[in-house]
Amino acid sequence: MLLTEIDHVAIAVADLEAAIDFYQRAFGATVTHREVVESDGVEEALLRVADSYVQLLTPTRPDSPVAKAIEKRGEGLHHVGYRVADCAAALEAMKAAGAIAIDEAPRPGSRGTTVAFIHPKSAYGTLIELVQE
Ligand code: CO
Repeated sequence: MLLTEIDHVAIAVADLEAAIDFYQRAFGATVTHREVVESDGVEEALLRVADSYVQLLTPTRPDSPVAKAIEKRGEGLHHVGYRVADCAAALEAMKAAGAIAIDEAPRPGSRGTTVAFIHPKSAYGTLIELVQE
């Protein structure tokens, strides 16, 4: 089994501060990490749940993929991040199984991770992110 953990569940939101406030009031959640990833046009807030995270994602510019996702489908579940020991090996395994890679090779993600995305069209409608810590 190449997946070692659910790394994060990512939720696209229009207003990051409001979403953080909601999670704080509803669950007593605290933000353990915040980061702007300019290359992806997103700002994220990570709320720890055991060894995983809820990742609240908001666009930093109107042409970012997350902005387009909110425009098309509204706020909501955006992708699932699966933690793997070796992102390159997991990416190759997924491609061999017929999945379409959005990233042809692993690239830097937030928190100093190495990541690769798999197209939802080839993965039962779910955008998948492979995350190596
Ligand atoms: Co992610």
